Amino acid sequence: MKDAECVALLRWALPRLGMRWEGFRNVRGQVCKRLNRRRVELELESLGDYRAYLAAHPSEWGELDAMCRISISRFYRDRAVFERLGREVLPMLAESCEDRGAGELRIWSAGCASGEEPYSLRLLWDYELRARFPDTRCEIVATDSDPQMLERAQRARYKASSFRDLPADWIDRAFRRIGAELELRPEFVTGIELRHQDIREGCPTGPFDLVMCRNMAFTYFDETLQQTTLKRIAGQMTGGGFLVIGSHESLPPDPTSFSAWDAQAGLYLRT
Ligand SMILES: C[S@@+](CC[C@H](N)C(=O)[O-])C[C@H]1O[C@@H](n2cnc3c(N)ncnc32)[C@H](O)[C@@H]1O
Repeated sequence: MKDAECVALLRWALPRLGMRWEGFRNVRGQVCKRLNRRRVELELESLGDYRAYLAAHPSEWGELDAMCRISISRFYRDRAVFERLGREVLPMLAESCEDRGAGELRIWSAGCASGEEPYSLRLLWDYELRARFPDTRCEIVATDSDPQMLERAQRARYKASSFRDLPADWIDRAFRRIGAELELRPEFVTGIELRHQDIREGCPTGPFDLVMCRNMAFTYFDETLQQTTLKRIAGQMTGGGFLVIGSHESLPPDPTSFSAWDAQAGLYLRT
């Protein structure tokens, strides 16, 4: 199957799924491979035939949607962002929780893949902040629309390539080696709520002090869906809370409920 054939299909199909081609340009190899496998499975000659198949079988759009999920992640992805969370954002939020007598700082990791992001937050809290804020509990809810990703998150076993940004001594403290993989110790897995949920359909109930929505909605969704998603997120956040988006992402125009705290780092304040 030629790249051009796959690109043509994606350019045609993605807007119909509320997604945008630009987000997929650099990662299309993954999607094209899946599409080709599906084409072979359906015994179709070409992706042109697959297009016709989609027209005749509306339920196939769900399959295509699932094939367009990109699941790349790693621990402490964009290390500088996690360092800022540890140094500035989480202490501010924890202090605000203390002032409110809230007792609990609530975090939502949206599009959590195999758990790398929520577990990174958990390690950051436990190793850097918990002792400073002994009266504040950190509660993390992590959602993803891909059940396989959530199964992997529950299993919490990772290849060495997932760790290139995580502080080395945390790896030794928090993981144990199982063959070629590293397994997160159970005490870090329990207590994080992993939930199967499509952000286009719903979200966990807030209020959240910190929402991480990185390398998903603001990369792959089209502008209309980004606006809807942003409203959905805003509706579950506390005023003064933080939204973190990917460091290569930006919010859709006129994000009424958010102001940039450091847009370059992807940090936004819920106004
Ligand atoms: C590229 S990964 C990003 C993981 C992590 N946030 C990070 O930045 O490393 C995107 C994740 O979003 C999930 N995802 C895609 N569309 C979604 C949706 N509509 N609702 C919830 N999760 C979704 C995918 O299954 C995938 O695990």
